[in-house]
Amino acid sequence: MNRQLSVIYFSATGGTAKVVKEVADGICDSYKEYDITFPMNRKESMTFDSNDLVIIGVPVYAGRVPKFLIDYFSNIKGNRTPAVFITVYGNRNYDDALIELKDTFESHGFIGISAAAFIAEHSNTSKVGTNRPDAHDLETAIKYGAELKNKLKDLHGILPSSKLVVKGNIPYKERLMAPPIAPDTSDDCTRCGICAKYCPMEAINKNNFKEIDSAKCVRCCSCVKKCPVSAKSINHEMFHKITQGLIDNFSTVRFEPEFFNI
Ligand SMILES: Cc1cc2nc3c(=O)[nH]c(=O)nc-3n(C[C@H](O)[C@H](O)[C@H](O)COP(=O)(O)O)c2cc1C
Repeated sequence: MNRQLSVIYFSATGGTAKVVKEVADGICDSYKEYDITFPMNRKESMTFDSNDLVIIGVPVYAGRVPKFLIDYFSNIKGNRTPAVFITVYGNRNYDDALIELKDTFESHGFIGISAAAFIAEHSNTSKVGTNRPDAHDLETAIKYGAELKNKLKDLHGILPSSKLVVKGNIPYKERLMAPPIAPDTSDDCTRCGICAKYCPMEAINKNNFKEIDSAKCVRCCSCVKKCPVSAKSINHEMFHKITQGLIDNFSTVRFEPEFFNI
């Protein structure tokens, strides 16, 4: 491929990262990776030109692109840069996240050439979207990448003849105002610090791992999933209710990846 491929992704619990890297592997052997999961990597501005190809991958939070990412994305500019938008959701629904991602980047100088919605294990519970993306998802992702590579050969200049259309509504679903909930820490905590090291919001006090700033916490569950002794858990009644609803309605159905092309 005669373009520089860059892959930009946020992935608190690893699902989005697996998907976007597999798609990129289907396109070419080497690409630039911008993992914006950690705050220190969400400080720089980035600019791309028409010879680039950019893949942007985000998880779906409450049917939308996480708000803090929308804020950061104003620092990423394209100049008629072809782009592929990928949302990864927890087997419930991606609602308006994909259209929001597309609209956001197209308003910053990118030209959407393709978009996809993939499925990963739900952050709240391993009972929904269990073990996804699985081997079948990853095979689908790499094939999608290979198809994109062919599509790029047919792109005349970088001006597609038609505009990319994806599923979703405008106005977007209203953002939920979640109550200030943060994980609790049990006495099993060994103070290894993995939770604080990997918290994408720097919400966990590095000197006292039990102290979590609920105003910063986005309930991504990175700390809950990564704690080697399962000392972190979210115990708020509302969180339990939502999670039980997800298990009741989405633990036995299987959604498949969806694709949108110009
Ligand atoms: C705050 C929050 C809200 C979420 N909302 C949704 C949702 O609306 N629909 C859905 O299917 N999954 C939802 N999920 C699940 C994530 O989209 C899913 O687990 C995602 O793949 C996680 O990506 P990651 O592994 O890259 O962090 C939500 C997760 C979190 C943390």
